[in-house]
Amino acid sequence: MEKELLVYVDGRFFEKSKAVVSVFDHGILYGDGVFEGIRVYSGSVFRLVDHIDRLYDSAKSIHLKIPMTKHEMTEAVLETVRKNHLRDAYVRLVVSRGPGDLGVDPALCKDPTVFIIAEPMATVLGPKDPKVVRVVLASTRRDPVDAASHEIKSLNYLNSILAKIEANNAGVDDAILLDHRGFVSEASVSNIFIVKDTKVATPSSSAGILHGITRERIIRLCSDLGIDVEQRDVTPFELVTADEVFLVGTKSEILSVGSVRGTKIGNGGVGPLTKRLYQEFSKIVQRPEEGTPVYEAESVSI
Ligand SMILES: Cc1ncc(COP(=O)(O)O)c(C=O)c1O
Repeated sequence: MEKELLVYVDGRFFEKSKAVVSVFDHGILYGDGVFEGIRVYSGSVFRLVDHIDRLYDSAKSIHLKIPMTKHEMTEAVLETVRKNHLRDAYVRLVVSRGPGDLGVDPALCKDPTVFIIAEPMATVLGPKDPKVVRVVLASTRRDPVDAASHEIKSLNYLNSILAKIEANNAGVDDAILLDHRGFVSEASVSNIFIVKDTKVATPSSSAGILHGITRERIIRLCSDLGIDVEQRDVTPFELVTADEVFLVGTKSEILSVGSVRGTKIGNGGVGPLTKRLYQEFSKIVQRPEEGTPVYEAESVSI
């Protein structure tokens, strides 16, 4: 029988079928908690420091005191990957408010729950072209920054789920959410970039976006390549008339958008800049300095 994956729950490891949390956990009852989705490439956790920092920022913004230091959390992530002998993986790190009596008040919960799942996941990044996806513009608007802002990577994903349902119903891959003003915000689980006349733009934080770690790395990559990325308001008009549109995120990596609500973007395939960034990013994720090694370097016998 195949060995089950081991899941970290509050400092102990459990087989996947036995890894459980309480039905009284406010993460389940009210979506009260924060999380991270993280990739492991060739035995190195990609931008782990950034993910840990963002997790603690998300927690701080909802007054959730994580019961571990950043160093302990980092070790727990690495140990979870190690225990499962993974080299290419997806890690889901969750900190919820913990179990408490019924009632939305977080003060009812004394001990946050921490769990970490690591599953095998191969990258699609490589010499081939990125996948082309079709998207619609969702009628569901992104939560504004003064509401359940997606700047917080929280367990409240209904906003994205409603948009994804619209994409499913339209028979396309994903949906782009507009912010409450009508400007482009992001896709259900990825940030968005547009290219027009070789100029690159991406919605700024005023559009209620998650401060994506891939987005940040792509902006830096562009800068290294001498390409300036404007972080500004992007209109739906600019989106549908762009030469290239692409989505970026930890799980999605880089996806080329072939059409927006039936309107072809460029020639409907992969544009030259998207292709270039995809190829460069494929190399970046494999660089040791971009991540935290999971395994001790193999000792070299002299
Ligand atoms: C709503 C949303 N936007 C953007 C992203 C991309 O962020 P990152 O690159 O940090 O994975 C995600 C990732 O899960 C997301 O959920």
